[in-house]
Amino acid sequence: MSTVIEELEAKRAEARLGGGQRRIDAQHAKGKLTARERIQLLLDEGSFEEYDMYKTHRCTDFDMQKQQPPGDGVVTGWGKIHGRPVYIYAQDFTVFGGSLSETHAEKICKVMDLAVQNGVPLIGLNDSGGARIQEGVASLGGYAEVFWRNVQASGVVPQISVIMGPCAGGAVYSPAMTDFIFMVKDTSYMFVTGPDVVKTVTNEIVTAEELGGAATHNRKSSVADGAFDNDAQTLAAVRKLYAYLPLSCREPAPLLPTQDPSNRIEESLDRLIPDNPNKPYDMRETIEKIADEGTFFEIQAEFAQNILCGFVRMAGQTVGVVANQPMVLAGCLDIDSAKKSARFVRFCDAFNIPILTLVDVPGFLPGTAQEYGGIIKHGAKLLFAYAEATVPKITVITRKAYGGAYDVMASKHIRADINYAWPSAEIAVMGAKGATEILYRSELDDKEKIEQRTAEYEARFANPFIAAQRGFIDEVIQPHSTRRRVINSLEILKNKTVNMPTKKHNNIPL
Ligand code: HXC
Repeated sequence: MSTVIEELEAKRAEARLGGGQRRIDAQHAKGKLTARERIQLLLDEGSFEEYDMYKTHRCTDFDMQKQQPPGDGVVTGWGKIHGRPVYIYAQDFTVFGGSLSETHAEKICKVMDLAVQNGVPLIGLNDSGGARIQEGVASLGGYAEVFWRNVQASGVVPQISVIMGPCAGGAVYSPAMTDFIFMVKDTSYMFVTGPDVVKTVTNEIVTAEELGGAATHNRKSSVADGAFDNDAQTLAAVRKLYAYLPLSCREPAPLLPTQDPSNRIEESLDRLIPDNPNKPYDMRETIEKIADEGTFFEIQAEFAQNILCGFVRMAGQTVGVVANQPMVLAGCLDIDSAKKSARFVRFCDAFNIPILTLVDVPGFLPGTAQEYGGIIKHGAKLLFAYAEATVPKITVITRKAYGGAYDVMASKHIRADINYAWPSAEIAVMGAKGATEILYRSELDDKEKIEQRTAEYEARFANPFIAAQRGFIDEVIQPHSTRRRVINSLEILKNKTVNMPTKKHNNIPL
C-alpha cells in the first residue's frame, strides 16, 4: 500500500512541476506567477480540489508523443472564495506556452459544464500562446467548444476572465463572452491579430502593449473592466468582485452584515449641489455617502468616465449603481457611456441585482462624431436595458434630467419602481437658456428680455414639482435622507414579480 501512495505523491509532484523548474523561473522572471501560485492566491487557503491532473494530450504529430506533461497546460477544479464555491481553470504557460490542445479544452469544458449544472460561477485565468500549433484544427474545435459553453453559461452563472499573459487570436473570444474581464498591467495583452500581422496588413508599427495591453483595453476599447498592477493585486480584486455576486441566476447575492446604520443621515449631501447649475460636483462622493461605508466597487473606472457603474452594498445587500458623473462631459450620455452602462444594467438584471440610478444628465452629447458613430443605436442599448430589466429599480434625480436622457435614465415611464428627486432636480425638455432661445427667438437681440424669460422658465420648469404633480416622481426627498429612502425601497421591492410577454428572446440593438 505504501508504495502506491508514494507513487501517487510522485505523480502529483511531477504534475505540479508543470513545464519544469527552468520554465517556472522564466515565468517568475517576467514578473508572473505560475498557474498554481495564482490559484493559491485566488482561493481560500486549502480549498482547492483539482481535477484531471494526469490528463495528457493525444497528439502524435511533430513527435509530440515524446512530450506528454501531465495536466496538459491547464490546472482545473474548484475551490472557495470567502467560503463560497467557484469553478476555476488556470492556464499554465510553462507547458507548451499554455497553448490550448483538444485535451486542454476538454478539461476547461468539464469545469464549465459542472459550473452550469451546479449553479456555481466560473473564473478563468488566461495565460496562453493560443491554439496548440501542433494540433491544428483539433485545437480550433476545442476553442469553439469553450465558446459554445460560454454562451450557454451566460446569464446562468457569473463568468469572470482574468488575463494574466498573452491572449491572442480567436482565443480572445472566450473572455469576450464572459461577464467581466480583469487584466494585469504590463504583462497581459489581448488582440485578434498581433503586431507583426498588423504591420504586414496595415503598415502600422505598434507594440503588443499598445495594441492590446491593459491600458488599451481599459481606456480605449472598453474590452476590459479593470486593470491592476500585478498578479497578486488582480487576483485580490477578483476576490473582492466575487463577494458581490450571486452563485447563479437562481440565487440571491450574498448578504454581508454592516455596522453602517440603515437610517444614517448624511447632512453633507444637502450641501453637495452647487448653486450654479453649470458647476460640476463629484457623483462618486454621492454614491460613497449613500452606500454602506467603503463598499463601492467600480467597473470600467477608466472608460467613459461620464457615467459611473459599479456595485455597492445597501444594508448589506448587493446593489448595482449607475450614475451620471457631472465632472466629465457634464455627465452627458454618449456612445461610450451608453454601451458601458447598458451592459452593466443587463448583468444586474440577469443576476437579480437591484439597480440604483443616480441622475444628473443634461442630455445626449451633440455632434457629428456621435451621430455618425451611431448614438441612436448605442443610446438605445441603455434605454432597452433599463426597460427590459425586471429587478427592483430605484432612481434618484439629484439635479438635471433633461430631454430624452430623462426618459432613458430609469424614468418611471420605462418602469422604474420608485423615483425620487432631490429639491435641486431640474426635470424638463431642455435647459432654461436653450429653451428660451428657441421659444423667444424674435427677442434674442434684447438681452434683458431674454434674461427675464430665462429666469421665468427656470422658475417654472427647473424643479421636480411638475413631474411630481404627475406622479412621475414619487417623492421629493431631502438629500440627507437618501440612504434611508433607498434602503426602505429595497426592502419593499424584495418580492417584486413581473410577468413578461411570451417570446423567444428580445432583439436589443447590438
Ligand atoms: C504550441 C507554443 C505556442 C503554441 C508558445 N508555445 N505558443 N506551443 N503552440 N501556440 C511554446 C513555445 O514553443 C515555447 O516552448 C513556450 O511555449 C514559450 O514560448 P516562448 O515563445 O518562448 O515565450 P515568449 O517569448 O514569452 O512568447 C510567448 C508568445 C509566443 C508571444 C505567446 O510564444 C508566440 O507568439 N506564440 C505563438 C502564438 C500564436 O501564433 N498562436 C496561435 C495563434 S492563432 P518551449 O518548449 O521553448 O518552452 C490562435 C487561433 C485561436 O490561437 C482560434 C480560436 C478560434
